[in-house]
Formats: sequence, structure tokens, C-alpha cells
Amino acid sequence: MDKFVIEGSRRISGEIEILGVKNGILPLIAASLLASRGKTTITNVPYFRDVATLSQILCQMGASVNYDRASRVIVIDCEQISNFTAPYDLVKQMRASFLVLGPLLARFGQANISLPGGCAIGARPVNMHINALERLGVIINQDEGLIKAKTAGLRGAVFYFDFPSHTGTENVITAACLAKGTTTLVNASCEPEVVDLAFFLNKMGANIVGAGTPVIMIEGCSQLSAVEHEAIPSRIETAFFFVAAAITGGELVVKNAILSNLGIVVDKMRQMGVEIIDLGNNAVMVRASKRLRSVNFTTWPFPGFPTDLQPQMMALLSVAEGTGIVKETVFENRFMHVQEFNRFGANIRAHLDEAVVTGVASLRGAPVMASDLQAGAGLILIALVAEGQSIIDRVYHIDRGYERIEERLSSIGASITRQKGDGK
Ligand code: EPU
Repeated sequence: MDKFVIEGSRRISGEIEILGVKNGILPLIAASLLASRGKTTITNVPYFRDVATLSQILCQMGASVNYDRASRVIVIDCEQISNFTAPYDLVKQMRASFLVLGPLLARFGQANISLPGGCAIGARPVNMHINALERLGVIINQDEGLIKAKTAGLRGAVFYFDFPSHTGTENVITAACLAKGTTTLVNASCEPEVVDLAFFLNKMGANIVGAGTPVIMIEGCSQLSAVEHEAIPSRIETAFFFVAAAITGGELVVKNAILSNLGIVVDKMRQMGVEIIDLGNNAVMVRASKRLRSVNFTTWPFPGFPTDLQPQMMALLSVAEGTGIVKETVFENRFMHVQEFNRFGANIRAHLDEAVVTGVASLRGAPVMASDLQAGAGLILIALVAEGQSIIDRVYHIDRGYERIEERLSSIGASITRQKGDGK
């Protein structure tokens, strides 16, 4: 397994450009299954392990997928799909594989998908995806960990989400695009990636209104065609680089950053004393010139504070002045990084859904292990400010959603190298 070796206490400075967002690109790739005519082209697609896994699933179904790493363009031809199964060995690598369920049901009336199961951050059931699809006329049987779904024809319906599930909303929107009649989703996810998916589907010929609000209406149509689309920049990566500059007392210009997708995060960072200046044209200057002050924050679906930035923001709090309280309301087990953070000398006590972070004046490098993608990102950030050397193990988690992060951080002043392991 690859590791990162980081020498801390280096100031981040210079310029960095933000790449496409993993959690926006995966639903676009899955939705390309809806195109019965033409080739879908998605640009600004970084090399993420999850993109490779989903491409493999589509290829097994009969699609042809070509990804050019240099130009970051993926071209997908789904005209000839002949197999409707997403097998366990691929689904277990990535829960987002479940996103193929909606498109397969919409276009072919059948899909067999292995149940994704739990993961480090929580149990993560898929009951809302299933209940909504049943409402649209799908018959679902579960057999030995496989979900066997079939429909004689999807019909529009009204569905109320108990909680605004991000991929749940995406799965149902893609199914409803080819259903007969109108589907209304209430308490739907408002995340920017859902808005972009709706925009992409409307270009393909769908009729979706309300994306970005809690009520989304989809008027079914009979056929969708492939289109070209540019993935939106990652708000998670944007905030990661903001924190990298802030935690090291640096100064960074971040390009291709959409500040409106990071409202509450920017507000909290400004309250802490970070200077965040909109330079126009999606360029932002981030600077921290003195010790930051703590804040409290609570994770919440968009436009609340994103759970995917909780570890990174906790990293920033761990060296700020005062005590901050972090409440995690989206996932029940997303404090796995706390004990790893404390190895650096951080002072964090977590109990159930709350963590109390008492800022310390300095941290020391340590050997640590990434438990999941964003926990790994948080560890990198702490290691950037810690004195001496840190070694982060299991960086394959980080590779799932950050492209060659070591090269990009090195280009803005960090000392970080990849130590090759056994290939994972
Ligand atoms: N939930 C249910 N039943 C469902 C669906 C969700 O109880 O049928 C619960 C979950 O267990 C969780 C909460 O609802 O407690 C929110 O889950 P949500 O469905 O919104 O999460 P997701 O769609 O599975 C996506 C991202 C995650 C991100 C969350 C929250 C993708 C591929 N994944 O997951 O990203 O943390 O939304 O914003 O879009 C990551 O990138 O590593 C990652 C974990």
C-alpha cells in the first residue's frame, strides 16, 4: 500500500487550479446509461480510482468507455448494453456504483445490483432509494446480498424523502426521466452536484425543474440522447486547499473555485480570521497571517456545513485558539480520524455525535492511517502544519477522490512524497 511522507511546517503559497468533483462526475457517468443514441463526453474528469471502478462496471454491461488521462476527458458509448448486473467485487469498492440502478431501470426495466453494505463512516442503508423506486412501479427482491429490480414500466409518483439523501435523489431523478407522467420529489437533496446532474439530463432531453430546491419535478420523456458536458469544480477540493493555506499561515490563489457552493464554509473560516478574497472570474485569494480563532459547526445537508469537510475543518480547529464544538449529524460514525489527529498532539474528545476540539499551539509529526477519503485529507492537512515528519498509510482512500494530491501540494510549497507500496 502506498504511503505519504510529509515534512511539516512549510508555508503553502502560489496558485492552484481546482479539478472536477468526484461526487458530481460519478452520477454523470451512471446517467450516461440513459443515452440510447450517441456518445457521452464529460470533460474536466480527474483520474480518480472511483471513476475507474464505475467505468469497469459500465464496460461489463456492454458499454465502451475511453478515458484520456492527459486531457481529462471520458467518452462513454452506451448504445449496446446487454448485461444489467453490477457485481459485488466492484460494488464493494465503491458505494456510488448503486447509482446505475435508476438509469438501468429507466431504460431497460431491470437491474441486478449487489447491496453496497456499510462502510467506515456509517451503516449507510439504501432504503430510501428502494422505497422511492417502488413508488415509481419497480418490484424489488433481495436475494443473497443482490438487489433484483424489475419494472413493467415506470410511472411518475410523489415521494417524500425522510432525509435529503444525495445519491438517493440522483438515483430517483435518473429513473423518473423516462417514466410515464410526472414525478415529484419532496425533501430532495439540494447539493450543487444534484443541480448539475439535472442540467446534464435536461441537455439530454429530460424535463426537470426545481433542482437545487427541496422540491424537484420530473416530467418523463421517451428517449434521451448523449451530450457533451463539463464537470463542475470540486467544492471539497476547493475547501481542502483553503484549509491548506490557512493552517500553514500561507497565501494561495485558488482558481476555478465557485464560492457560492461553499457559503457556510467560507463564513466559518472568515469568522476564524482567515482572509478569503473573491478576485472575480472564479479566482479566490486565501491568506492567514495570525493565529486563528475557534468556531463551532454542525454538519448538515446543503446549504449546511458539508459532512465531507468535517475532518478538514477539524484539522484547522485543532491548532486554533480556544475550543470548538463539532456536531456530526449526517453520518453516525464519522469521527474515525479523531484518534489519528490526537497522535499529532491534538486535543480532541469525541463522544457520540459531538467532538470537543481544544486548539493547541503546535503539533508534532506522527505515523498515522487514513480510515476513509476525507479523514485522509484531514490527516494531510494536520501533517502540513505538524513539526517534523509524518507518514500517512492507506493513501488509496485519498486517491479515490484527490488526483495526485502529492504533486499538486508540492507545487505550492509542501514537502510531500509518495512511497510506493504493493500497488494498491
Ligand atoms: N440514508 C438512509 N437511507 C438511504 C440513504 C441514506 O438512511 O436510503 C442516510 C445515510 O445513512 C446517512 C444520510 O442518510 O446517514 C445521508 O446519506 P446520503 O444518502 O445523503 O449520502 P450518500 O448519497 O450515500 C453522498 C456522497 C458522500 C457524502 C454524502 C453526504 C456520493 C457518491 N457520495 O453519499 O461522499 O458524504 O453524500 O453529503 O455522492 C465521499 O465522497 O467519500 C462520500 C462519502
